[in-house]
Amino acid sequence: MRLQDHCPLKKYNTFGIEATADRMMEYESVEELQAFIQRRLSEGNTTPLLHIGDGSNLLFLNDFKGTILRSGMKEIHVTADEGDYVYVRVTAGIVWDDWVQYAVDSNWYGLENLSLIPGTVGASAVQNIGAYGAEAKDFIIFVDTVDLQTGEVRHFTAEECRYGYRDSAFKHELKGRYAVTHVHFRLSHSFRPNLEYGGIHKALAERDIDETNLTAEQLRQTIIEIRRAKLPEPSLLGNAGSFFTNPIVPKATFERLLNENPDMPHYEVDKDYVKIPAGWMIEQCGWKGKTLGKAGVYERQALVLVNRGGATGADIKALCERIQEDVEARFGIHIEPEVNFIA
Ligand code: EPU
Repeated sequence: MRLQDHCPLKKYNTFGIEATADRMMEYESVEELQAFIQRRLSEGNTTPLLHIGDGSNLLFLNDFKGTILRSGMKEIHVTADEGDYVYVRVTAGIVWDDWVQYAVDSNWYGLENLSLIPGTVGASAVQNIGAYGAEAKDFIIFVDTVDLQTGEVRHFTAEECRYGYRDSAFKHELKGRYAVTHVHFRLSHSFRPNLEYGGIHKALAERDIDETNLTAEQLRQTIIEIRRAKLPEPSLLGNAGSFFTNPIVPKATFERLLNENPDMPHYEVDKDYVKIPAGWMIEQCGWKGKTLGKAGVYERQALVLVNRGGATGADIKALCERIQEDVEARFGIHIEPEVNFIA
């Protein structure tokens, strides 16, 4: 167990916001986490707890008056191998992309399109990360957690996690209560590439890669290159990936918008709902590449807000609110941050 008082948080959030936590605790086993909770219970300590991963989806608005928890557990175990499927238990503290690389190297398939998404394995199960037509929930079977109020271990099936677009029960009724310690994935022994998301066919053709002989490693590297071209590297320019989720609107709203904006990109969700790219709306409002104070909108992808250097959480929040107002005024749609604001 590693404990640190008055912990600077700059390196624990990819926005690079300067804030401090009263305490940081990194645990190396479930038992250590449980012992920590038992001690708090016996001391009657009710100060706030915040479990983080890599801090790639967080915005600290203030110093954190409590204890930040992190998993230092790094283990990958095959729990079953049956027919086409391999079942793998992965600790929450592993960096997501290290897990994707490990899976591809092991010839376990499915995660290729999720390459280079920032964050940890634990966060993937809270946030249902997604990209290029794939989502973490497509591969998650169940999740092991520790109840932060009692220290008890509890398992949640994927159904109990209630996964939706960038969403799960861990962001709603279970919020803050459970620390994800392990995620159980089901991957395939057969490689069935998912190339349908706009841009992948073109990117493969540009690289002279023959789709009929495509390998998982080639697909992974292509996805990495597509992401690098659009998304800023957090160590060079602080950011948290997509700042907003893409709004899902009823068909009637979509038809009104399309009438006014015939070139508007969109994705059908089901027969009643359509997803509209928030990045496109933000660009239409003239925000792409703009700066407000020390916060800015990334030049190559308007869905990404960036720290231009020395921004506070309040600077980023102010920019977020200005953008929300403009999108609402122009399109009549409220866009919601995907990033977690920590007050
Ligand atoms: N667009 C614009 N201007 C922009 C940005 C986008 O016009 O500045 C248009 C694009 O031309 C395209 C559409 O909007 O027609 C969608 O853009 P893109 O493919 O870049 O994807 P996105 O919807 O903006 C989502 C995810 C990303 C993920 C990509 C690729 C969300 C909130 N974001 O972005 O996830 O990498 O699709 O699958 O769903 C993240 O969550 O941090 C993240 C980066």
